[in-house]
Amino acid sequence: MHTNIYNDKILILDFGSQYTQLIARRIREIGVYCELVSWDIDEQFIRDFNPKGIILSGGPESTTEENSPRAPEVVFNLGVPVFGICYGLQTMMVQFGGTVESSTTREFGYAKVDTVLASRLLDGINDFAEQDTPSLNVWMSHGDKVTKLAPNFNLVAKTDSCPICIVEHEEKPFFGVQFHPEVTHTVSGLSIIKNFVFNICGCAAEWTPKNIIETTVAQIKEQVGNDKVILGLSGGVDSSVAALLINKAIGKNLHCIFIDNGLLRLNEGDQVMEMFSGKFDLNIKRVNAEDRFLSALAGVEDPEVKRKTIGKVFVDIFDEESHKIEDAKWLGQGTIYPDVIESAASKTGKAHVIKSHHNVGGLPKEMKLGLVEPLNQLFKDEVRRIGLELGLPKDMLERHPFPGPGLGVRVLGEVKKEYCDILRRADAIFIEELRKANLYYEVSQAFTVFLPVKSVGVMGDGRKYSWVLSLRAVQTIDFMTAHWAHLPYDFLGKVSNRIINEIDNVSRVVYDISGKPPSTIEWE
Ligand code: XMP
Repeated sequence: MHTNIYNDKILILDFGSQYTQLIARRIREIGVYCELVSWDIDEQFIRDFNPKGIILSGGPESTTEENSPRAPEVVFNLGVPVFGICYGLQTMMVQFGGTVESSTTREFGYAKVDTVLASRLLDGINDFAEQDTPSLNVWMSHGDKVTKLAPNFNLVAKTDSCPICIVEHEEKPFFGVQFHPEVTHTVSGLSIIKNFVFNICGCAAEWTPKNIIETTVAQIKEQVGNDKVILGLSGGVDSSVAALLINKAIGKNLHCIFIDNGLLRLNEGDQVMEMFSGKFDLNIKRVNAEDRFLSALAGVEDPEVKRKTIGKVFVDIFDEESHKIEDAKWLGQGTIYPDVIESAASKTGKAHVIKSHHNVGGLPKEMKLGLVEPLNQLFKDEVRRIGLELGLPKDMLERHPFPGPGLGVRVLGEVKKEYCDILRRADAIFIEELRKANLYYEVSQAFTVFLPVKSVGVMGDGRKYSWVLSLRAVQTIDFMTAHWAHLPYDFLGKVSNRIINEIDNVSRVVYDISGKPPSTIEWE
């Protein structure tokens, strides 16, 4: 979408490494537009993209295997700098006549890299200040290694176990490193990326929130003209930022539909409405659909069936509501770049794509509306920065993730209004206390779970059987693995006291001390 607007762009060819998206994020962070495409993309695409530099990512394959991926020849013929990372280095060496050998052991973790030759890639970098010749503290993750340099390449640096670790072409701006500069463990990784992008490729930092907003708004105007756009606003970061951008472009021709499914957090529905119809003056309609969702969920206990039911009722209501908006031509959506990358399959299927997680339903295909997806080139952190620039409160932009099916998967088993009401109030206490104790941002996600079992408690003189709640708080980078958060005992004690004292029919609060894996973050 933004491809032709920015002059200075980097293209990343993805060979399937789990870190490839990080390369793109680092480059965007330093203010330069880049795109990530499968290594086997059409040569014409690469030419048309007109990159100022190309990065070849890491990948799980071995160049020693027959039919393993290679960089398209055009990459080296465009006259622009090329930077190979891990597999990217290896394929570059093989393609220029060097040798890569398989190894039975994998090198994984920190390594000290010693330079033997100055290189523009390493300008200003020395992680071990006490040494005269610069050295780097880097993160390695590889099996194969380069054992013979390709002709016309110079050795720039080595480690004890990897004698060819950084290379540079004698005349052309081609560079390669065996380690991963994109991960934060590589101490000067960002400096290496900056050296490549700014000094070697000569890019300017044009990719700023202000510019992104300006160009996106112009594109939306051009795309939809005077047509009406419908958008399902959930109050989450992505749909909110998408709505504000489209609103900026077309104002009241944007019709937002906020479906309150009754499975939201305490007062969330009112807050969403206050913010978007109040502060932002959006054209937004709230549909109170708690009854419809809860009646569809009556008697349903299986978590996946619950998810599907919630997704289906959502789609039905959205469909009904959108038919009430006459002549709507477009559907606005908060799809972000990782969703696009993850659903774009490589032609040869060789890039190992990590599947997108938990997609809740979709909208019906027969809606026949064109799509307006103003965030489809943006990473989540960029969406947040743009949201901030558009005036969304920081609290809301940095809120912990909340699953689409909401409390529907936090009330175990059958979902009932009584359970949701208890859970909402308990969860509000937990979150309020986390914020008060400055612990909210110390954890990645925190919430309360309703367990449909009764346990004994002593209330006054009598014994009473009431519900059990569990608190869950985790620390994680990617939500694929997580540690349970070691919240202080006195804090947990305070939360438990408040919940049991302030909410009737709760006799017991427990704390979940399971990691992921084997447990998941949510309980269902
Ligand atoms: P799990 O429970 O699989 O969760 O460890 C990982 C992350 O995904 C969120 N999650 C969901 N998000 N719809 C969503 O939109 C869902 O059905 C769903 N289930 C889990 C979860 O909150 C955590 O952040």
